[in-house]
Amino acid sequence: MQRIETETDSGSKSKSESESESKNEIELVSPSKTKDKYIYFLNQKLGSGGYGQVFRGIRTKDSAEITVKVVKFDPAIQEHKLLFINEVVVLKKIYSDGQCSMHNVLCILDGFISLPQNSGYIITQYIANAIDLFTYIPQFKHHSVETNLDICRQLFIALKYIHGLGLVHMDIKPENILVVPLTGANSKIKITLIDFGYSCESHKCTAKGTIDYLAPEVGNDIKLTNKVDIFSLGATLFRCFHPEHLLPYNGRKLHKWYRYKNMYQSIDIPSRPIPKNNFIPLIDENYPFIRNMISTDSELRPSATDLLLFLDSTQ
Ligand SMILES: Nc1ncnc2c1ncn2[C@@H]1O[C@H](COP(=O)(O)OP(=O)(O)OP(=O)(O)O)[C@@H](O)[C@H]1O
Ligand SMILES: [Mg+2]
Repeated sequence: MQRIETETDSGSKSKSESESESKNEIELVSPSKTKDKYIYFLNQKLGSGGYGQVFRGIRTKDSAEITVKVVKFDPAIQEHKLLFINEVVVLKKIYSDGQCSMHNVLCILDGFISLPQNSGYIITQYIANAIDLFTYIPQFKHHSVETNLDICRQLFIALKYIHGLGLVHMDIKPENILVVPLTGANSKIKITLIDFGYSCESHKCTAKGTIDYLAPEVGNDIKLTNKVDIFSLGATLFRCFHPEHLLPYNGRKLHKWYRYKNMYQSIDIPSRPIPKNNFIPLIDENYPFIRNMISTDSELRPSATDLLLFLDSTQ
């Protein structure tokens, strides 16, 4: 088993570090200043992402199930360290009022850096039996409109909550939404928004995200607002509810169109790059808010609060 005893990023040297070999078993000791050092036992790799690996594990003190995102810092890539620090800062802000779980947002438990290991660790709650929404998408074929609207509601609650904290997620997409299908009489679904690596305070957001779900104003020298998340969520929902799980536009073309529109105002260009007939009637009829969520004009997009009010008024 590998044992890693971590140190904070204060620049002081490691207290202790001992290693013995095993495949996926790592014992991780957080650098808490109190006597109660948390020890985490990592036992299963859940996935590898853009800048880290995610493990499932146990907090030995109380056997709580946890998830650890391990980010290896390549000294040549400063961005990885910055993304890590950013994610910890954002998650701690979300956790500070203890309301994250009931607002469908992942809760952080701990976060620290090991200088000797050149790594950062983010400990969060473990969402048992979860699959990401991207993997789950084929299941939408079997859903009722009511179930889908329940998924919308949970995601609107998550956005209202983080936007209320003055944050923008910046990378809403099916891969960053966890789904737990609950079985039982009225089988519901529990949704959790994850991955705050690109998140930012509203006035400090820069161009980041995933092109297919990215609002067209991102990357165009325009002050970004939380309406960026509304667009990405609208695109995500459109894709889930479309019978063939397609998006109503091509991400790169949409961004090109937007830049072109701003540069050459006088040239006759279509007012909407998303043709009406791409909006299949089924989506417009059952989820009429999606059309406005992916408007190319950010001011026309509803806020998360507006969206929740709309759902309340129609149910
Ligand atoms: N708390 C959790 N509970 C259960 N599974 C999780 C949890 N957090 C992450 N995962 C799993 O790990 C995957 C990657 O997590 P996350 O998106 O936070 O990492 P990432 O390194 O940013 O990945 P990417 O670059 O692919 O976005 C998720 O899609 C999910 O399958
Ligand atoms: Mg992710």
